[in-house]
Amino acid sequence: MSANKRVERSIGKIVIVITGTPGTGKTSVSRRLVEEINGLHIDVSRYVIDNRIYTGYDEYRRSYIIDEEKLIEKLESIIRESNKPVVIDIHYPEILDPNMVDYIIILRTNPLELEKRLSKRKDWPLHKIKENVMAEILGVVTSNVLEHYPEEKVYEIDTTNKNIEEIVREIIAIIRGKRKSSMKKWIDWLELIGPKILDKHGEY
Ligand SMILES: Nc1ncnc2c1ncn2[C@@H]1O[C@H](COP(=O)(O)OP(=O)(O)O)[C@@H](O)[C@H]1O
Ligand SMILES: [Mg+2]
Repeated sequence: MSANKRVERSIGKIVIVITGTPGTGKTSVSRRLVEEINGLHIDVSRYVIDNRIYTGYDEYRRSYIIDEEKLIEKLESIIRESNKPVVIDIHYPEILDPNMVDYIIILRTNPLELEKRLSKRKDWPLHKIKENVMAEILGVVTSNVLEHYPEEKVYEIDTTNKNIEEIVREIIAIIRGKRKSSMKKWIDWLELIGPKILDKHGEY
């Protein structure tokens, strides 16, 4: 039996949310993860555009305004109908029903590294890069997730200096119950790097 088959058999049909600030690696990690567990990957940003699940376009943010009700309905029906593990790659996971989700994995990236990655997005204006780097500094995704999901379903992974393979291995260890939830010890970049990180990002 291949390693893939073994993981697949032991995990069955589960729903894994891969979340994090844009640029933290959600899509790269999800793609590799579904290969490993024979899962179904929904890249929600892509899915919203491909299926026109939006009500308009926010010029300032350069992003679509999603039709939340329709999106939730679609995602819930995909989850219901799938007989494989479902990996939902999304940066606003608080729209999902927490009862439908088994694991929420938050990818975190050192804001200085994240800024380098986001600066490569040619279509992103500076204010959008800054807004997202600031969201990572402040842990906005984690705090939204913790308001919405029971803590025991939530895991953070510091992806800084890790390659995709290593991150996927960590996620599989979580699914197999080899890593417990962080339980109140969440990543705090202000504590880890110090307030000097705000110097570059304080102004808008
Ligand atoms: N662990 C990693 N190490 C180095 N580069 C990464 C890592 N994860 C993602 N990247 C790179 O960062 C960029 C953003 O990754 P992506 O998967 O698109 O993030 P997201 O889907 O969260 O916006 C891509 O260019 C990707 O190749
Ligand atoms: Mg993505």
